[in-house]
Amino acid sequence: MKCATLIWVLLFLLRFGLFVDSMIDPVDFLALQAIRKSLDDLPGSNFFDSWDFTADPCTFSGVYCDGDKVIALNLGDSRAGSPGLSGRIDPAIGKLSSLTELSIVPGRIMGSLPNTISHSKNLRFLAISRNFISGKIPTSLGELRRLRTLDLSYNQLTGSIPISIGSLPELTNLILCHNHFNGTIPRFETQSLTRIDLKRNNLTGVISPVTFPVSLQYLSLAWNQLTGPVNRVLIRLNQLSYLDLSLNRFTGVIPGQVFGFPITNLQLQRNYFYGLVQPANQVTIPTVDLSYNRFTGEISPLLSNVQNLYLNNNRFTGRVPVSFVDRLLSSSIQTLYLQHNFLTGIEISPAANIPVSSSLCLQYNCMVPPVQTPCPVKAGSQITRPTIQCMEWRG
Ligand SMILES: *[C@@H]1O[C@H](CO)[C@@H](O)[C@H](O)[C@H]1NC(C)=O
Ligand SMILES: *[C@@H]1O[C@H](CO)[C@@H](O)[C@H](O)[C@H]1NC(C)=O
Repeated sequence: MKCATLIWVLLFLLRFGLFVDSMIDPVDFLALQAIRKSLDDLPGSNFFDSWDFTADPCTFSGVYCDGDKVIALNLGDSRAGSPGLSGRIDPAIGKLSSLTELSIVPGRIMGSLPNTISHSKNLRFLAISRNFISGKIPTSLGELRRLRTLDLSYNQLTGSIPISIGSLPELTNLILCHNHFNGTIPRFETQSLTRIDLKRNNLTGVISPVTFPVSLQYLSLAWNQLTGPVNRVLIRLNQLSYLDLSLNRFTGVIPGQVFGFPITNLQLQRNYFYGLVQPANQVTIPTVDLSYNRFTGEISPLLSNVQNLYLNNNRFTGRVPVSFVDRLLSSSIQTLYLQHNFLTGIEISPAANIPVSSSLCLQYNCMVPPVQTPCPVKAGSQITRPTIQCMEWRG
């Protein structure tokens, strides 16, 4: 009996951290308490069930310690379908001086990103996506010199992207898509930057050849109001594997070199790009969307290896190269949208069997399409462009 009591007392002491090694730093302890008080589980989430402050906080779910300091905080149940958290991010977050990683799952967290977050000088990974964070990005975020990933996508952030973000020396991933940022894009000097996603904001102004480093592999600026030419920007970014500039007001020409980059997805649609599309070699990009621009000239046969090619709603002229028809009939092309141009012919037999897996649209050109194929609804019902337009164009 006596022995059992002794063991029980020992266990009790262990649990309440009498052994100094297992005690969390009091500053971190209080910070976690404040963070907990400002947040709650949404109905159906039980993330905070394990947060019982009579136990060692380093054992809480989502809390990771090194010695007596919190080094990572992953707030919320990250399993798919979990409803996430509500509340606000307490400014005490900045008291966690050894924090290297902070993430919060999608949920309904409101309020702004506290300024104090810049006190967590060791932060390398900051990801709070798909909540309702509003206000501006604190300029002081630029003091987090070790930051590598900043993901604040799908929130309600406003104002401009602080210039200080552009000079973070170790920044690799910047994901700020689906917010309400306005103003111009700052210059990014960091040579380790590989991914920038700014799509669906309200960004304006022009981008210059020095805006982005050549290390960039993923660039999405889609759905903004950016203007000006991009040709001198693009020729430098020869490591791009993903490029989406769609739905802006960009102008100018697209250099042929771009089609030789190791890109898997090239989205340039719905801008004011013009000029000839002249790749230097066979293009092996699987998806190329150049639709709704002002490109002119003949369609290059070097584009016939593209599996999904959208050239519709431009000013392309001449005959469709025969290589496209060969690729189409052998099912190598899945989408070939050529509608709403000024094309004058295509070498295809009216009896040709277009594979069911392939979509071809030839509507509203300067020819009667030799084959009838289903077109997207947007292409309208007019089979051929009015003759007068075709004459003006050639005249
Ligand atoms: C962009 O700005 C306009 C005008 O200020 C506003 O109506 C629109 O909602 C904004 N869009 C986004 C995505 O913030
Ligand atoms: C950005 O939007 C705010 C309103 O949200 C406005 O006051 C400010 O002038 C805008 N800035 C720019 C550069 O458009």
